[in-house]
Amino acid sequence: MKYLFANWKMYLNFSESMILANQLATMSYDTEKIQLGLFPSTLAFTEVEKLFRGSPVCVGAQNVGWTPKGAYTGAVSAQMFKEAGATYALVGHSERRYIFGETNDDVKKKFDACLDVGIIPILCIGETKEDLEAGKREYRLKKQLMTVLEGVSKDAQFFVAYEPVWAIGTGEACDHLQAAEIHDVIKDELNTYTSQSIPVLYGGSVNDENVVFYLPHQSIDGFLVGSASAERDHVHSLLAAVLAA
Ligand code: 13P
Repeated sequence: MKYLFANWKMYLNFSESMILANQLATMSYDTEKIQLGLFPSTLAFTEVEKLFRGSPVCVGAQNVGWTPKGAYTGAVSAQMFKEAGATYALVGHSERRYIFGETNDDVKKKFDACLDVGIIPILCIGETKEDLEAGKREYRLKKQLMTVLEGVSKDAQFFVAYEPVWAIGTGEACDHLQAAEIHDVIKDELNTYTSQSIPVLYGGSVNDENVVFYLPHQSIDGFLVGSASAERDHVHSLLAAVLAA
């Protein structure tokens, strides 16, 4: 089983989201082999969720607020997303960290809020180009894991997405051998914090051409795809590539 998670970011307006969601709803694929997850904008979330309710396709939030309710202009809480049917939520995506200034502490609060309400958080981690060039890749990843996972129950259900910041939206995907090696490092590190088997996804310029290289690696449980996931034909060929592996 591989996970194919589509992070639509802010690529699609409401009607574009619904057009793509309806196109995907008519696609048939082997649901034993792939779990498809969609992460629409907050605006489209409830309608996309309604469309896929009761189907094998899961719908998740791109971001959550940690306090259940209150005076937090612009925020939508993990609790509200849970009530609206979210299975998953991305937390700590690098665009949230580096464009919106989220700290590891913010990410921890969001992660804990998801667990509290019964959403499976997908903890996004990744090193910057500067980290990479300074030989600090593992240091950065372990720190991002530690700040969030220390103190979390060993039975908690969550995912990790390894998304090198330099690979996101650049067309410069991480080499598959390197990615597989880093996934092994992440999985080793996760043993410190959990007794669960945690799926680790790769994200960063994944497309229908390069996805085949990652597929044979056991340590890569699936993909978190950005721009290629916001277009029907690309999703179709991504699904086909994963199914053919
Ligand atoms: P791209 O696939 O566009 O590089 O984005 C990856 C990503 O950020 C998914 O969360």
